[in-house]
Amino acid sequence: MALVWDDTYAMGVEEIDAQHRAIFNNFNALAAAYDAGAAPERLVEIIDFMNDYSTTHFTAEEKLAEEFDYPGLEEQRREHRRFEADMAELREKVREEGATSERVIALKGKLIQWLIHHVKHVDGELAAHIREHRH
Ligand SMILES: [Fe+2]
Repeated sequence: MALVWDDTYAMGVEEIDAQHRAIFNNFNALAAAYDAGAAPERLVEIIDFMNDYSTTHFTAEEKLAEEFDYPGLEEQRREHRRFEADMAELREKVREEGATSERVIALKGKLIQWLIHHVKHVDGELAAHIREHRH
């Protein structure tokens, strides 16, 4: 399953939109490598890249939320930490069990759902707050 970017995901905050597009692309690269039966080491490499990138992205988002006194900052933080924990779990499962176990497939699906929910709803609310308070 690929994550297809469309304008309903755009927050209207250029830096964040570009990062979200990159996260979608990274995730698609992971899914494609996975579907092509890539070796676990290769998948772990992509997961590590994705983790580094999303940490940078989350930091940028949390900074923006702080700057704009966003009341949902704590929820943002919790969501971000949860994603990092789930990615860490995926990494371990891939390393231990390879790419084919049901648990890996379930985790991958969960992460895709998380990304869609987070970008559309959680970040969408942050974006609305920023647009309201930006002058
Ligand atoms: Fe985000």
